[in-house]
Amino acid sequence: MSRSLKYDIPGEDRRVTLEEIREKGLPALFGPELSGAHPLVVELGFGRGEFLRHLAAEAPGTAHLGVELSFKRVLKMSRRIAREGDPNIRLIEARAEEVVPELPDAGVAAFWINFSDPWPKKRHHRRRLVQPALVETLSRKLEPGGHLDIATDHVDYAEHIDAVLKAAPGLRNRLHPVPFAREMPGRRHTAYEDEWRAEGRPLHFFCYARRRSSAR
Ligand SMILES: C[S@@+](CC[C@H](N)C(=O)[O-])C[C@H]1O[C@@H](n2cnc3c(N)ncnc32)[C@H](O)[C@@H]1O
Repeated sequence: MSRSLKYDIPGEDRRVTLEEIREKGLPALFGPELSGAHPLVVELGFGRGEFLRHLAAEAPGTAHLGVELSFKRVLKMSRRIAREGDPNIRLIEARAEEVVPELPDAGVAAFWINFSDPWPKKRHHRRRLVQPALVETLSRKLEPGGHLDIATDHVDYAEHIDAVLKAAPGLRNRLHPVPFAREMPGRRHTAYEDEWRAEGRPLHFFCYARRRSSAR
């Protein structure tokens, strides 16, 4: 039996819109809980949101923006963070490709992309989130030294991600000389990650950063 969605938000509604970001600027949307200058961390495709909540709890003085395409996932996460607090999280229901260009240039401390849909069929590859144009924009939005971390369980998508990241001139591989790690000790698992681990799928964790200069 399917359970009906609950639409009421039992507390502060932390959802924001693209229009609000454009009109007021993202930092203003974290007030009054966070005022003044604060670092910004963004997760693209947060799914059930446990990873974002973990990041936000670890860094209470940092603003965390969760971007997610699914209305249902955003609604459920909004209800959860209204119930449980999480004053330093804001959520937006939109495509990452639309939101990222609206973020401040050199204004993001870290982007996280965890287990985004691999779209395994060749004719669907253009739907993959990690694409050269998006990565170029992510690189521009990162502060110098800011991090871009991408995880996938899918071998062919991992090869694609590797090629796209290696070709991005503004980024450097924090794991150099290896392209990715199979494990990241101490890293919070995501909901999908736990499923893929249970199935024994190979994990790939890419850890890049925006170059501070032309040096490695
Ligand atoms: C496979 S799930 C992974 C969820 C979560 N990151 C995890 O690891 O458990 C991919 C998520 O990305 C969202 N998504 C897919 N394309 C997106 C896009 N272009 N922008 C934002 N979210 C997207 C989906 O709705 C889904 O929740």
